[in-house]
Amino acid sequence: MLKGKHIILGITGSIAAYKAAMLCRLLKTAGCQVRVVMTPMAKQFITPLTMATLSRNPILVDFFDPENGAWNSHVALGEWADCYLIAPATANTLAKMATGTADNLLLTTYLSARCPVAVAPAMDLDMYAHVTTQLNLSTLRERGVRVIEPGEGELASGLSGKGRMAEPEEIVAEIADLLSEKKKSLAGKHFIVTAGATIEPIDPVRYITNHSTGKMGYAIAGELAGRGARVSLVSGRTSLPVPKGVERIDALSAADMYVAVTARWPEADGAVMCAAVADYTPEHVAASKIRKSDDDISISLVRTRDIAASVGADKGSRILVGFALETDDEQAHAEAKLVKKNFDFIVLNSLRDKGAGFRGDTNKVALIDDKSRTDYPLMSKREVAEIIVDRIEELIDNRK
Ligand code: CTP
Repeated sequence: MLKGKHIILGITGSIAAYKAAMLCRLLKTAGCQVRVVMTPMAKQFITPLTMATLSRNPILVDFFDPENGAWNSHVALGEWADCYLIAPATANTLAKMATGTADNLLLTTYLSARCPVAVAPAMDLDMYAHVTTQLNLSTLRERGVRVIEPGEGELASGLSGKGRMAEPEEIVAEIADLLSEKKKSLAGKHFIVTAGATIEPIDPVRYITNHSTGKMGYAIAGELAGRGARVSLVSGRTSLPVPKGVERIDALSAADMYVAVTARWPEADGAVMCAAVADYTPEHVAASKIRKSDDDISISLVRTRDIAASVGADKGSRILVGFALETDDEQAHAEAKLVKKNFDFIVLNSLRDKGAGFRGDTNKVALIDDKSRTDYPLMSKREVAEIIVDRIEELIDNRK
């Protein structure tokens, strides 16, 4: 959705400017071309060198290049862009945008931009709550600017409240949504998505888990919601922000996840089983911390229930998509899971492929059904989410 898009990233003078580095990296990973415009004050918070390196373009701050007098044309920049994102946006810049003040390149570019504009405010809680800031934000909203709401939490001032800039992943998802020309093709459909790692407690301080971050499942939930579906995201342990329009249900253990999914299955039109669910859980959870002794110990593990296989056994006309993360004999394992769990198709990723699997922002997958296998190159997890949801849409269309 974001591939090939031209994004101007405007950075203003806020502590949250450090997050602009990650934001820029995520936009680049999604295939965007990024030009960075900074206010003079922003340079105090993050260096132009960092942003130039990440965006692979020179940074624009002044109307003229002080070295050679070349004019930095805000008009040309405004025409080049598919989207102008100002993140972080300070109270000062928001006020200037609302009144049409044009005393730096970032602001003249705003006035020249014909593309969609988004701002991610970042400031102290009282500044954010101030009636002037709120009036400025509603003025900007009325003029079509997308305001990416700040989150609540600890602020640079040491106070806690609303004013923390939205997380970079959240901002990228909002930009994708803003630029999305897709119809709400899944309106009226309800999908369950499982994501993240489960946690199986051993005692009050220890647990068994795995390396899943939930990124792939969260990207799929966001993509489904972006196309109008109602999404119940049954989430294990992750630190990711909830995608826009998605209902998150926390289910940390395999048993909790089983309950959360099976309770919703009768009303659902389908599910994407992306979570890395523990296959075994400790037979007994110690009520108090297990103390060490000189002896070795062993923990007896018992099987968890297979959520995918359970809903697959009662699939009816619903759509069920599974994942297989393999280390060896990939095709055979994926095919066996496809059949055993009654998936419509399975997304295979191999830890042997560089850039695939856990943690990263990329994945390399093959979609396998009972008739064929389609291999895709290394892509961002957002793009992988798109091809998976495209395949789901195809299945829905074929069943009409
Ligand atoms: N899955 C599930 N419930 C479980 C285990 C797995 O819903 N208790 C789902 C996963 O979300 C995934 C698919 O089943 O979509 C395959 O998971 P995987 O762990 O690869 O398969 P297992 O059946 O556990 O096989 P193995 O661990 O032996 O590879």
